[in-house]
Amino acid sequence: MTTDNLNSALSFKHLFSKECLSRGESPIKTTMKYFLDPEFHFLGAGMPPLELFAFQNFSFKSLDLRKYTFNEIQDLILNKNDKFEDYINGDIIEDELDSDILIERALQYGNSRGHPSLLKFLKTHINNTFKPIYKDWDILVNNGSTYGLESLLRIFCNPQDTILLEDLCYSSTIEAIEAQRINTVPIKMDSEGLVVEDLEYKLKNWETLYGDLQKPKLMYLIPNGHNPKGVTLCDGRKLKIYQLLREYDIILIEDDPYFWLQMPQYKKPSLKDNQFIDENKPENDINSNQDFLNKLSHSFLSIDTDGRVIRLESFSKYFGPGTRLGYLVGSKEILDNVWNYHEVSLQASSGISQLMVNGLLNRWGQNGYLNWFKRLRVVYTQKRNFCLNSLYKHIQQFNINEYVQVEEAPKAGMFFMIYLNINKHPDYNQKLTELGKEKVVAYFENLFFEKFIQAKLLLAKGSWFTVNDPCHSVIDISKCMLRGTYAAVTPEKMDNGLKIFAEIVNQEFN
Ligand SMILES: Cc1ncc(COP(=O)(O)O)c(C=O)c1O
Repeated sequence: MTTDNLNSALSFKHLFSKECLSRGESPIKTTMKYFLDPEFHFLGAGMPPLELFAFQNFSFKSLDLRKYTFNEIQDLILNKNDKFEDYINGDIIEDELDSDILIERALQYGNSRGHPSLLKFLKTHINNTFKPIYKDWDILVNNGSTYGLESLLRIFCNPQDTILLEDLCYSSTIEAIEAQRINTVPIKMDSEGLVVEDLEYKLKNWETLYGDLQKPKLMYLIPNGHNPKGVTLCDGRKLKIYQLLREYDIILIEDDPYFWLQMPQYKKPSLKDNQFIDENKPENDINSNQDFLNKLSHSFLSIDTDGRVIRLESFSKYFGPGTRLGYLVGSKEILDNVWNYHEVSLQASSGISQLMVNGLLNRWGQNGYLNWFKRLRVVYTQKRNFCLNSLYKHIQQFNINEYVQVEEAPKAGMFFMIYLNINKHPDYNQKLTELGKEKVVAYFENLFFEKFIQAKLLLAKGSWFTVNDPCHSVIDISKCMLRGTYAAVTPEKMDNGLKIFAEIVNQEFN
């Protein structure tokens, strides 16, 4: 797509932190271009000699996803029990592919923005998927989204600045923000994600509600398969949110590691003659890449004309968290400043990890990469459906409907959320009088957590993910929350774990 008619991003220097503004560019970075010139007498940088690198060869084996159509891949997964017959063997000794990152480059300093062939692949991928609509958007490779967020906090925030979060949030994000002494203000969520009216109300009435608290510079959202709530922000709300961010000059951090784990809608099983009927058909409705893309939600990148959206991308949930590889997508000005921070912290992401990921991506090609996501979608759909079917079955069998609410079925990601109606617990009133409003939820949350642990079941506590409002108590004292995941659990453990859950709830409430 030509970018000739597009506008450039706005400058957001006025929102940068003092730390960021005082940090310059690393002078040595500007000399790297000479290193690649064989005519050059390069005595200027402390690079170890190639002949002393210990590794000679890297090879990897992966499924060959190049030649299958979408329907074939689905048949392979659904009918052949996931046994692919073809593998790709990547052997990176010499330049097997022009796009391969040679070992001598992977192990050396340099290319701290990301290796050029990987950047090229990812840029095409982002363009094909989200089609950013301003000219100077860019990519910066990093060590995944946890690091990506930490780096962005440093670029934008001074201590006592304010960031808007959803009222439940990934716990590491909360911890990273608190460690930098940045204030958080929660915005309500419902089963369709962030509640726009609450955002608008808080921004409009900031002084009345929050007094002297700094006006927010940043907002952080997990739009698909929210961690921990499991919900997905509906597309219909995005434009209004973006307009509010423009009006109040706020930068958006879109942390979206579950984007490619989007699934078809889940249908709750129906009950006939005391038997559950699974209404979910094996997903079978995708005919082409375009059809697949059309079924996915939109990124804020696709409506961002200003360059105020920074998207955190991560390979953790697609290729494995140990790759420690991810990247930022955003305006060049902002990413240049993050890059300066990388120079004094991360330096560059692991060259070996980039070599592997780049080698695989370029062997698969853009279509093969989409085929991989298709595979994830089918497998995650099966896992989610099994989990929720089992949950509803046990709730019914133990007759605990009255005490348990299940959040809207996830349309993406790996998390589901359960609410316990603790106000129906026989000890609730006594504990409320004894402990007061502040402590009653924590008491019951702890009680259930410990009972589950004794029975060898782990569900995460909702309070680990709760964003406290600095000026107003927003706690709902009638419920406690529990987060579960179906990602890496066998069907037997899932079914048994949910049976334990239902048994304990039954014992406690009845
Ligand atoms: C919302 C969210 N962001 C980031 C991460 C971590 O990503 P990474 O492994 O890329 O640091 C997680 C992992 O659970 C997550 O749920």
